[in-house]
Amino acid sequence: MPLNLNSPNELPKPDAQAGQRSHQLVEKIKQSIEDNNGQISFASFMQQALYTPGLGYYSSGLQKFGQRGDFITAPEVSPLFAQCLARQTAEIFRYLETPCVLEFGAGSGVLAVELLHALQQLDALPRHYYILELSAELKHRQKQQIDEAVPHLAERVVWLEQLPVQPLNAVVIVNEVLDAMPVECFAVAKNDCLQRLSVRVKDDVLEAKFTQASSVMVKVKQTIEQRIEQTLPPGYASEYNPQLSSWLSALSQTVAAGVVLLIDYGYSASEYYHPDRVNGTLMCYYRHRAHSQPLWYPGLQDITAFVDFTDVAYSAVKAGFSVAGYTSQAAFLLANGLSELHAEQLSDDTRQQLVLSQQIKTLTLPSEMGERFKVMALTKKIDVPLSGFTWQDYRNRL
Ligand SMILES: C[S@@+](CC[C@H](N)C(=O)[O-])C[C@H]1O[C@@H](n2cnc3c(N)ncnc32)[C@H](O)[C@@H]1O
Repeated sequence: MPLNLNSPNELPKPDAQAGQRSHQLVEKIKQSIEDNNGQISFASFMQQALYTPGLGYYSSGLQKFGQRGDFITAPEVSPLFAQCLARQTAEIFRYLETPCVLEFGAGSGVLAVELLHALQQLDALPRHYYILELSAELKHRQKQQIDEAVPHLAERVVWLEQLPVQPLNAVVIVNEVLDAMPVECFAVAKNDCLQRLSVRVKDDVLEAKFTQASSVMVKVKQTIEQRIEQTLPPGYASEYNPQLSSWLSALSQTVAAGVVLLIDYGYSASEYYHPDRVNGTLMCYYRHRAHSQPLWYPGLQDITAFVDFTDVAYSAVKAGFSVAGYTSQAAFLLANGLSELHAEQLSDDTRQQLVLSQQIKTLTLPSEMGERFKVMALTKKIDVPLSGFTWQDYRNRL
């Protein structure tokens, strides 16, 4: 549950250096507001807050992942996550000529390390493991992690600045990346008019303000309403990812044949835009505290939103993919042998057993990551059932 906070003073105070960096970022954002006639869209604010080189949340040297950071992702929870993913990847590789892995947003690099390691054990190493990462700082960290943990496999890893022009036969892994893409926020006013959230400067501080929505946003709302077969009522606020469709089109140009595995917290449109979810899904994370104030501490806190998987499915089909499966993270991992992997790793060490079973609980329990996180498979020129979706397939909910 997000905390209901009235002031950033209720959060742990950043140290002087971090405070200084955040101040620098705010000055840059203010400049961009001035350059844009006094206001920028929320998505532009979020883009700058997360990705401004050297200052944005994902682009600075902050410790983000793990217990000492702000949040924990599945690959950070347990190597079992990558081991299950490796089984699915190896299965897909059997249908592809000279396959490779392409990982988007590789975070600390731990998934790449564990996946390469597990693929080696399955005798399914790809010649190339490509990583496309926006943050120069994270690229550096990923390289260090890979050089240290799997030096004998490091030469297979290639960092890309952009999607390759030459199409690939690939398994594309996108774990918790869609939730880190900028979103636009909207609200339905009392008179039913649609408003969009903008960021401006008032009394020298950043301020979020609802103003009249553009015709593009009105169209997006109409599409949502058609999909959920309901009208969003006055007072309803939510968000959408304006980059999703172009991102999937670009990805489709890159994938000649293969499977894109999207793993993220998200819902189908009818759950996402459910009448009860009147304040949307936008959330901020700062040292393991979740709250809903995106303008606080720019550059020092994560800003994220859930993924509308119905929108992903529609955009993916338009881009030339097939939607081959949609399930919960728990069902995907179990169908890829989580229990067997667990049994293989059991030892007499009681402490280690406890650690393993705690990791499995975190990955699979509905109250943890098991149900909130979903896995969607998008395929191109592969028409075989994928193991990860044999336990449960929620495509009928999309
Ligand atoms: C929440 S982190 C997840 C990191 C990692 N995948 C994990 O699960 O631990 C989000 C990551 O996505 C990256 N990212 C966001 N948008 C991206 C994009 N369009 N292309 C590539 N990477 C992106 C960020 O820089 C960051 O590394």
